[in-house]
Amino acid sequence: MVTRRFMRVGCLAAGMILSLVLFSTQLQAQSSLSVGTVTVDGITVPEIGPLPTAVPIPPGNLNYAAKVELGKQLYFDGRLSKNGQVPCAACHVPSTGFADVRQVSIGVGGAIGDRQAPTIFNTAYNPSQFWDGRVGSLEEQVLGPIQEEDEMAETIENVVKKIRRVKGYQQQFRAVFGTDVNMQGIAEAIAAYERTVISTNSTFDKYVSGDARAMNEAAVRGMALFKGKARCILCHNGPNFTDNEFHNLGVPQVGPRKEDLGRYDVTLVEHDKEAFKTPTLRSIAETAPYMHDGVFKTLEEVVDFLDQGGGHNPTLSLLVKPLGLSPHDKADLIAFLKALTGEPIKFEMPKLPK
Ligand code: HEC
Ligand code: HEC
Repeated sequence: MVTRRFMRVGCLAAGMILSLVLFSTQLQAQSSLSVGTVTVDGITVPEIGPLPTAVPIPPGNLNYAAKVELGKQLYFDGRLSKNGQVPCAACHVPSTGFADVRQVSIGVGGAIGDRQAPTIFNTAYNPSQFWDGRVGSLEEQVLGPIQEEDEMAETIENVVKKIRRVKGYQQQFRAVFGTDVNMQGIAEAIAAYERTVISTNSTFDKYVSGDARAMNEAAVRGMALFKGKARCILCHNGPNFTDNEFHNLGVPQVGPRKEDLGRYDVTLVEHDKEAFKTPTLRSIAETAPYMHDGVFKTLEEVVDFLDQGGGHNPTLSLLVKPLGLSPHDKADLIAFLKALTGEPIKFEMPKLPK
């Protein structure tokens, strides 16, 4: 299913994909955010720490600040979908951590999706997009949901036609790109907007930047567990709390899909079976439900699951082990996860052009 989707996108927009793929390789080179290391169980990984203020920007999408306002309008505009009613913001909802409270997303005409919608927060720092990392840059990613049958169900051709008919968009495209509305511009603008949706300045950031009173004692103890006994940092590491790798935690598969092979569908490598991308944990308290299939409703459920050593699975990650956490430890760990909620961002709905 996932590969099929990718191929469809690839066929329809092969030329564009090619140029957009360029973005992603360039982006990867820029996004090493290392700030020291931590060693757990003999394994050394990058330290967690404050996010760098500069967001990695692919050299192919320069002058991106000028595109942000336009991209924000497009992100909230249902006209990018077949029935005019399903904008990006329908599933990546600003008031719920730019994620979706539903277990799986609902697209055009009530079509039921098969994965949980991840947050847009800090996707700017991800070298790959989607739970299986099948796409590199944000620019390229935009093409996916627009054409996805169970999401926006529209064709690139129709989107460009519809947006071109909107006078306010034509004017902005002229001003920003010096061209008519086209798909590359739509993708660049939406990606530019996404790069401004950042979760940062949490109490954790304040604490590690020197304000010893920013985090309460429970969260401080939780951080020590996170970096030690609870082993979380083995995968959730670096300033964005992800190694950008793929791991199999043995998460039970629920929802419309009977089987989801995750990363394997992209690489066809045996040990990638049912492996999924390590998600950021920034603003995690806002983005329930959790995991690629939304199986867990609370952070307590996630921590209980990991404490048992994850699920049973032949290709379970070797990094996952039973943790022996006490109820007190679990509460501390969750207090720490809550300290990762970013500063509220000032947010106003854009006015959509006519
Ligand atoms: C109908 C719901 C829905 C709509 C509409 C939608 N998305 Fe998504 N989005 C999802 C789901 C579900 C996933 C995860 C799919 C997967 O991993 O296979 C996702 C994944 C993503 C990701 C990857 C994030 C990450 O961390 O890997 C980004 C970025 C994204 N969407 C942006 C957008 C943009 C931009 C639009 C509008 C052009 C959009 N989405 C429209 C449901 C939706
Ligand atoms: C072996 C690597 C690894 C370790 C160790 C690990 N995680 Fe994760 N984490 C992941 C991956 C991969 C996923 C997504 C799995 C899926 O959807 O099937 C995930 C998902 C999560 C989620 C849900 C995120 C979301 O947006 O849905 C939370 C919360 C979480 N982990 C917290 C923790 C905590 C707390 C610890 C330590 C007790 C921990 N993780 C240890 C790799 C890891």
